Amino acid sequence: MTLQIAALASGVGSNVAAVIKSINEGMLDARMRIVISNRPGAPVLEKAAQAGIPVYVKDSADCENREDYDRALLAAICDAGADTVVLAGYMRMLSPMFVAAHRGRILNIHPSLLPSFPGRMGTEDAIKYGVRLSGSTVHFVQETMDSGPVIIQVVVPVHAQDTGETLMPRIQALEHRIYPQALQWLAEDRLRVEGHRVNLLPARKPNGSMASFGQSPLGPWMVSPPLEGF
Ligand code: GRF
Repeated sequence: MTLQIAALASGVGSNVAAVIKSINEGMLDARMRIVISNRPGAPVLEKAAQAGIPVYVKDSADCENREDYDRALLAAICDAGADTVVLAGYMRMLSPMFVAAHRGRILNIHPSLLPSFPGRMGTEDAIKYGVRLSGSTVHFVQETMDSGPVIIQVVVPVHAQDTGETLMPRIQALEHRIYPQALQWLAEDRLRVEGHRVNLLPARKPNGSMASFGQSPLGPWMVSPPLEGF
C-alpha cells in the first residue's frame, strides 16, 4: 500500500532527498506528505521546499517538555495524512508516547552496523575503535536509541586513514539506496517482525521496476537482504 510519509530530519537531508528521488522515479510506492524539522534553517527544509513538499518546523530549543513537543509533531503528522514516520538524521529522542502512537511504522537509519556504535557519533566511534568494516543500518524504532529490529544493513570498509569526513560520504552513498529499499519493502507489506528479527517475505509477483534478488552491483555479501533494483 502506498506509504504516506512524514520525514523527520535535523540536518542536510540527503536521505530525505534520496527518498523523494526514489518516489519520483517510480521505484518507491510512497508519497512524501510532510518534512518536519526541529532545527529552523536546517538545509533539509530547503530541499523539501524545492521538491514542493510541505514543511513543519518546531524549534526543539524552545521546548521544555518532550511530550508536549512530540504531541505537536503528532498533530502535524496527522494533519498531513501521514501513516509512516521516516527518521533521517533526526537528532532528538522520541518520547515513548510518540513511539507508541506509530509503533511498527517508524523507521530510522543509523551510520554503523548496529548494535555496534549507537548514538550521535556512530561513524567516528567506529573509526576510533579501529573496526575494519562499518556501514549503515535501517531499523524499526523502539523507545531506546538506535535499537529495534534490523531491516537491512550494508557494509562499508574502513580505510586506515579514514576520518568521519572521509568515511561518512561512502556510507551515505549506500544509505541513499538501502533506505528507499527498506521503505519499499514496508510498502509491499513484506516485513514481519518476530521477536527482534525482521523476516522479509518473498515478493508476491515480479515488479517491472525492480531487479530480481542478487542483482545488486555491490554483491550480495555486502548488503543484506540483497537490494531489489535500488
Ligand atoms: C545519516 O547518515 C544517517 O545515517 C544519520 O544521520 C545522517 C543524516 O544525513 N542518522 P542526511 O541529513 O540525510 O544527509
